[in-house]
Amino acid sequence: MDRSFPDGFLFGAATASYQVEGGAKQDGRGPSIWDTFSHTPGKVKFGHTGDVACDQYNLYRNDIALMKNMGLQAYRFSISWSRVMPSGRGAVNAKGLDYYRRLINGLLEADIQPWVTLFHWDLPQALEDDLGGWRSRETSGYFGDYCRLIASEFGDLVKNFMTINEFVCFTDAGYCSPGQVFAPGVTLDYKGRNQVRHNALLAHGLGVQAIRDAAPDAKVGFAENPTICVPVIATEENIIAARTAFREKNAHFLTTVLEGQYPDFYLEEQGADAPDFTDADMKIIASPVDFAGINLYLARHVVADSGSGRGYRILQHPASYPQMHAPWIKVSPEITYWAPRFLSEIWGVKAIYLTENGCACDDVVDQSGEVNDTDRIFYLRNHLYQALRAAEEGIPILGYFCWSLLDNFEWADGYTYRFGIVHVDFETLKRTPKLSSEYLRQVISANRVL
Ligand code: NOJ
Repeated sequence: MDRSFPDGFLFGAATASYQVEGGAKQDGRGPSIWDTFSHTPGKVKFGHTGDVACDQYNLYRNDIALMKNMGLQAYRFSISWSRVMPSGRGAVNAKGLDYYRRLINGLLEADIQPWVTLFHWDLPQALEDDLGGWRSRETSGYFGDYCRLIASEFGDLVKNFMTINEFVCFTDAGYCSPGQVFAPGVTLDYKGRNQVRHNALLAHGLGVQAIRDAAPDAKVGFAENPTICVPVIATEENIIAARTAFREKNAHFLTTVLEGQYPDFYLEEQGADAPDFTDADMKIIASPVDFAGINLYLARHVVADSGSGRGYRILQHPASYPQMHAPWIKVSPEITYWAPRFLSEIWGVKAIYLTENGCACDDVVDQSGEVNDTDRIFYLRNHLYQALRAAEEGIPILGYFCWSLLDNFEWADGYTYRFGIVHVDFETLKRTPKLSSEYLRQVISANRVL
């Protein structure tokens, strides 16, 4: 049986500006909330910051060559809003735009498609200071302006844009978190959080509209990390329960964007804390996207439960559940099948990209200078099989981006977790491709899971 990936299936790798660029003060870049947060004692492990990170700002040519050697067909990276608009609005920093133009042209010369994320959490600090960041809907408007700038500058070269990466990681985790605390590290009540979520939804919609206007030939989507509900045992009744759970647990972003309205159960559940919004807002939020990007890391296992009111129950991961080096990465390759399947079954999504998948491993450079990350290969292989399974069933998965190209600044965990298929020595910035990058190279060249 021919088990190749479908023709045109795209293989890439992903990164984000604050995690890899460095050059924090170079060429007129303004500070972002992650600069401030990482420089605030106690916020990031060991006081690590993204000041230098992988220094991709200066070493991008080198990184393009690495990608070329691996046969990568696409590179998903994000633009630092405060590098191109140091205050988030108004003045544009030409040197910042020049950098991205050099990067994009370098990729195109190497035959690698640039896939651009507009917002991967590094909000310009000035918008936080002057407006309260995502607490203000003015920020959503400025995001639209910034998207227009990028799309008009690069729309002739970039054919795929993602508005926003992982919604809850800057809304809930940034402005209202009992758990993980990310920049700006503010604690609002639920009403405040829901308004922040709403403003971010609005920003997404304004971003889609601005990109469409300024770059009519480009495709626009998002890169979201849904709560991935999967049937713990794939019986018909558990599949129905997991599908219901998938729609409900993602009400605050996917469901609202793809249905064009807040679902009734969400508004009821939030009660007096429900966000304030207008019909005009909802029309903007409902702006059609060309593709859905999903980031895949861990499963919520669901069983049907008619006694629970909603018809499902989510099981806890037992203490001995297999995990990778970052303890939250529970090994659950089946998400790479079920998430696309539910996107297509619930909302009829016609184009799905797996915009992130990968894991942290305890990588070491051995005496011969090699990083033999057989654990990451195990992890990737299992996910790729599930992607293939979905594609073989006709679910419209069009590409896969590995997170990440490089070991990088892992947010509040600093440099303590390595997600790269290329090792980075953070003292010398030396790059060492890991065995997993050779694995991916072979997979891409064979167009099959190996
Ligand atoms: C998803 C985020 O988009 C990315 O920034 C992060 O590094 C990875 N998950 C791993 O945690």
